[in-house]
Order: sequence, then C-alpha cells, then structure tokens
Amino acid sequence: MNTAALKSKLEGKLSLPSLPATIVELQRLLRDPGVGMKDLGQVVASDPPLTARVLRIANSAFYSLSVPVLDIGHAAAILGLDTLNTLLLQVGVLEFVESIDADSDFDPLDLWQHSVLTAQVASSMPSRLQRFTPSQELYVCGLLHDIGKFVLLDHLRDEFIACLKAAKTSGSLCDEERHAFGFTHADVGALVAERWGLPLKAVHAIGEHHDLDGSVQRDSLVAIVSLANHIAHELQGKKTPVLKQELPHQALKRLELDGDEIEVLLQRAIDFQCPAEAG
Ligand SMILES: [Fe+2]
Ligand SMILES: [Fe+2]
Repeated sequence: MNTAALKSKLEGKLSLPSLPATIVELQRLLRDPGVGMKDLGQVVASDPPLTARVLRIANSAFYSLSVPVLDIGHAAAILGLDTLNTLLLQVGVLEFVESIDADSDFDPLDLWQHSVLTAQVASSMPSRLQRFTPSQELYVCGLLHDIGKFVLLDHLRDEFIACLKAAKTSGSLCDEERHAFGFTHADVGALVAERWGLPLKAVHAIGEHHDLDGSVQRDSLVAIVSLANHIAHELQGKKTPVLKQELPHQALKRLELDGDEIEVLLQRAIDFQCPAEAG
C-alpha cells in the first residue's frame, strides 16, 4: 500500500492524539531565540501541575544533577533547551498515556516503562553513533517508537489486545496488526510523529523500527531504535543477563558495535532499569 493510501486508511479509523496546549506553546517559545525566560515563566505559571511533573522528571536519577532544579528557568539553564524540550514532550505524552484505561489485559504504564527504557538505551549509544543524531533526538525516537500502540489501545482496544494475544503464538505482532487493520503500530507511530512535527528521519525510524530485513540494515537511526527496543524487551522482567545472541544481528552489523561496546550498553540499560524513575 502506498503512503497516501495508508494514511487515509489510518486516519479513517483513528483520531491521532494531540499534545497538551501548554506543551505546544512552550516548545514554540523554546524554538524562538527572541523569547526570554520571563515569557516561558508566564506560560509555565499558568499550569502548575505540568511544572511539577517537568521538575520531577528533571530531578529523577536519569539526569543525575548535583543540585535539584527548582523552576523551569533553572531547568533550562542546567539541562539546556534541547533537553528541556524533550522533557516537555515526555510529560505531554505521559498525559496521553495516563488518559488510557488500564485493565487486566493491558496496563499502558507497563508499555510506558518500556518506552522510557528504550529511550534511555537509545540515547546511550557510543558517542561515535551520536555524531549525526544528537542524544536528545535518539531519546525522542526511543520514547515514541511504540506510540502507535497507545493509539491502537485507545481506539481499537479489543482488536489490538486480540493481536497481542495472537502474536504470543505467531511471534509477529506486526503481522497480526496488518491482518486485523491493514497497518501496524509502527505505521500509526510514524503518522503521530509527523503530526507532532518531528524531523523526517525520526518519523522514518519510528515507522520502520521492526523492519529488520530492510530499513534496519540501511539506516543507522532505525538500527539504533530497533536495537534499543530489543534490549528493553529482553530486560523487562528478566533476572538473567541479556546475551548478545538475543539481539538483532542486523542492527549490530549496521552499527558495527564491538563486544565491549555491547557490554557497556547492556550494563547502562541494567543501571537505568534499577532506579526506573523517569516518568
Ligand atoms: Fe514496536
Ligand atoms: Fe517496543
């Protein structure tokens, strides 16, 4: 199916989520060089719960700050504007995630933890891999790689949960989704990323993160997201160490990761999983 046909099919079945208005406004202000901290402060002051959430994540173990940040201006000064932008996005997505009901079949917060861990692993790749894609972009791609699952859960819950159950036997969630809907959660995720104005390469990485025999072998960013996703899956609820053989060889080959780099990455992933306080 071509992209336009896929888009109209998708948009006919789903309404894509929007980010909260305060977040969109703050992100716009952060991109504007003429805007000062006073302007930011005014927007933030209009939404105290949002400010509290941003500060809670900024002060979580992930950012290992030596002094706690106390307000948004302080967070911008210490973390930098790009990181603050990512944090705002994370808070906005979490609001959407929390609006989705949990039940005995599926708790969206489990998927959220997987998304945060994937983001942390993706942004911890060796520095040579961050030359073309800065760590904040890697983090965003990891965080949003499965955003399509949340949308499916929100709109086509029963059918999506049936796909998850069938995938336990067949081994391929994407195949089950294609069969049930004609598109996958990765297709939905790419559309959301596009709608939220993410760079094209991020849209592509989110849309292709399961394409092990295609895009993962051709595109480093797709390979990073795919590898981070696999590591996060392997680690979730697992007590034994993750073995190199369990990771997608297509991504390892594309990224040319050697044994030591893989060891460091896996250790970082384990360290992230322990504090597990990133939103
Ligand atoms: Fe996925
Ligand atoms: Fe995933």
